Amino acid sequence: MAFLLISDLDHTWVGDPRAQQRLQAYLQARRREVCLVYATGRSYASARHLQAEVGLLEPDYWITAVGSEIYGPQGLDSIWAKHLSIGWQRQAIVDLATQMTGLRPQPSQEQNPWKISFYLDSPALVPVLQDLQHQLEQARLQAQIIFSSGRDVDLLPRNGNKGNASQYLRKQLGFSPQQTLVCGDSGNDISLFTGEAYGVIVNNAQAELLHWYHRHGQTHHYYAQASHAAGILEALAYFRLGGSDPQ
Ligand code: GLC
Ligand code: MG
Repeated sequence: MAFLLISDLDHTWVGDPRAQQRLQAYLQARRREVCLVYATGRSYASARHLQAEVGLLEPDYWITAVGSEIYGPQGLDSIWAKHLSIGWQRQAIVDLATQMTGLRPQPSQEQNPWKISFYLDSPALVPVLQDLQHQLEQARLQAQIIFSSGRDVDLLPRNGNKGNASQYLRKQLGFSPQQTLVCGDSGNDISLFTGEAYGVIVNNAQAELLHWYHRHGQTHHYYAQASHAAGILEALAYFRLGGSDPQ
């Protein structure tokens, strides 16, 4: 039976080269039954660079820059871009966030029209994020604050994030949640798990995702015993996706 596989790249798909090779060989053998989507925090250019570097299987779609862009066979999805622009006042948000102490802008290649990214100077400064949330609300500016790996801070439009982008694609492609597996390891993957699809949290997941899982995890979520791509293979077997035993 055909299924949809949506996975984060860094520290999920990528991280253990031998496991990645095993996963890719398994999928390659049934490539026509799998619709493959990468959902990454990286920009499209940076994701393509990683693809060349570690030999990623060519996917059917790319969700890049934390769900702020979707690339398919026709290039950037302009309908998604329009959807994100609703209520998004980018410049005003940049002005407000750059005033906060403890937030350092990420390089310009990591910024795009629907994503504003910073580094948090130190984990001790997490309260700055609550402060930022409060100030955005007071200024009536709509933005999601997404915190990953204890360091990365992304500001996205209300309609953005990996989870919303995945659900939009899933519906467009006609897959049910029970034909879908999402895979991740860090904070920007949390939104992937908030839908009905099956989800795997790889064993090497970051604290912020584990914290979410312990509070909100349901039976359609699986915390793998294995790390990286081996965790994805484990979940394909656990949820019985893809037919014969992947392990
Ligand atoms: C990737 C992106 C970075 C983002 C982070 C977390 O590392 O390059 O801009 O902040 O993911 O989403
Ligand atoms: Mg990751």
